[in-house]
Amino acid sequence: MATNSRGQFNSRLGFVLAAAGSAVGLGNIWKFPFEVGAGGGAAFVLIYLAFCFLLCFPVMISEIAIGRKTQLNAVGAFKKLGHHNWAWVGFMGVVAGVLILSFYNVVAGWAFGYFLEMAQGNFDFGSVEKFVGFTADWEHIFIYGIVFMGITALIVSKGIQGGIEKAAKILMPTLFAMIIGLMIYAFTLSDAMAGIEYYLVPDFSEITGEVIYSALGQAFFSLSLGMGALITYGSYVSRKQDIVRSAALITLTDVSVAFLAGLMIFPFVAFLNAGDMSSVSGGPGLIFMTLPGVFESLGPLLGKIIGAVFFLLLSFAALTSTVSLLEVPVAYLVDEKKIKRPVAVWSMAIIIFAIGIPSLLSYGASETLSAFVNLFKADANGVLKETALPFLDFVELIASDTFLPLGGTFIAIFTAYVWKKNNLNAELMEGRATSSQWLSKYIDFAIMFICPIILGAITIITILERFF
Ligand code: PFF
Repeated sequence: MATNSRGQFNSRLGFVLAAAGSAVGLGNIWKFPFEVGAGGGAAFVLIYLAFCFLLCFPVMISEIAIGRKTQLNAVGAFKKLGHHNWAWVGFMGVVAGVLILSFYNVVAGWAFGYFLEMAQGNFDFGSVEKFVGFTADWEHIFIYGIVFMGITALIVSKGIQGGIEKAAKILMPTLFAMIIGLMIYAFTLSDAMAGIEYYLVPDFSEITGEVIYSALGQAFFSLSLGMGALITYGSYVSRKQDIVRSAALITLTDVSVAFLAGLMIFPFVAFLNAGDMSSVSGGPGLIFMTLPGVFESLGPLLGKIIGAVFFLLLSFAALTSTVSLLEVPVAYLVDEKKIKRPVAVWSMAIIIFAIGIPSLLSYGASETLSAFVNLFKADANGVLKETALPFLDFVELIASDTFLPLGGTFIAIFTAYVWKKNNLNAELMEGRATSSQWLSKYIDFAIMFICPIILGAITIITILERFF
């Protein structure tokens, strides 16, 4: 039951589904497979899994505990538990949330647009030219983006129980059913085994510093960590709930969905390439350019159905994530600035959509934005190196690949050394249903040492390498 005016999740399942809904998204179904492709297959998967369980899981527990303890948004929570000068960590999270949603909504809009195309049997949207044509057709993309942001805002405006929890309870089970159905179907295609092998048999010679860092960034992005989304959701969690167990369920769900998405997509890719996986290079187009061709080869009726189901799945997964991204700045405005929820929701939705316009135009509609140069890569004479990124990728690099691991490092340092581990443990004991000694010891150790040191070191080295 709601015990205060901020709202509260109604049940344990409701919270776990909403948080897992935040975690499961484009990151799992769109980004994970192409990162695996770019990172050399199974070796990437192993590093990613290690990061999720060893580094991210303790950070997730800290975020939820901070949220539940303070019953506040990301900025307010740091202020309350620490000092005023820690509020900037929360603020960095709010900014990251705004920036991530600004480009995430664009890709979610593509998924929604592809759903409409597949449902009409327009499979030639799968070719490279057509994908570029689709993303450059800014009038359509604009409309898809507005529709997606509008649905997100509508859900968030209905609050925690009536909006976020309800949507997650409907969308998440549907998503599971769709992904398992599609995976089973993918297994029956010819050459499916070649795809599975590529995905599951590691080649460690492919591991480079860049691969390690992408796996870390992917783990944070995929688990919605490092920007206070789970502080915010945690603030709506009842004191009767076991945080450690919920965090374990959320992590397991997220990792399983990413894993299943790979099991579904690589057999599709292998089927299309007649078992030749040597040309798989990943990239953001993997799903949008490859899969429609697969659907087409299934024949007009089956292709239409499977294709539409796939992109609907992608849209649903994205929706439960955009909802959590929007909730971060909204909770901040509601708690700290005392703005009414509907006003906060709709004004943020409009502002974030506007911030996303350059990203929206950067996949073909505007030449400048399509080759938006990574300015930090200019040499001493001011000559720009060839690293040209579309504006959308640039925002992603800054907001998700940089802010999230950095935010995660600060959250771990804050929990261990400012809030202190005894306070964390006291919060975790409330509602704790099981007491696993080794797990509690690991969480302590990870928060005190592993997360700040390893996470901090990888993050700093990569920032220095990438930008300077
Ligand atoms: N976890 C989401 C995904 O994998 O698609 C993306 C995301 C949502 C990141 C919410 C951060 C966040 F706060």
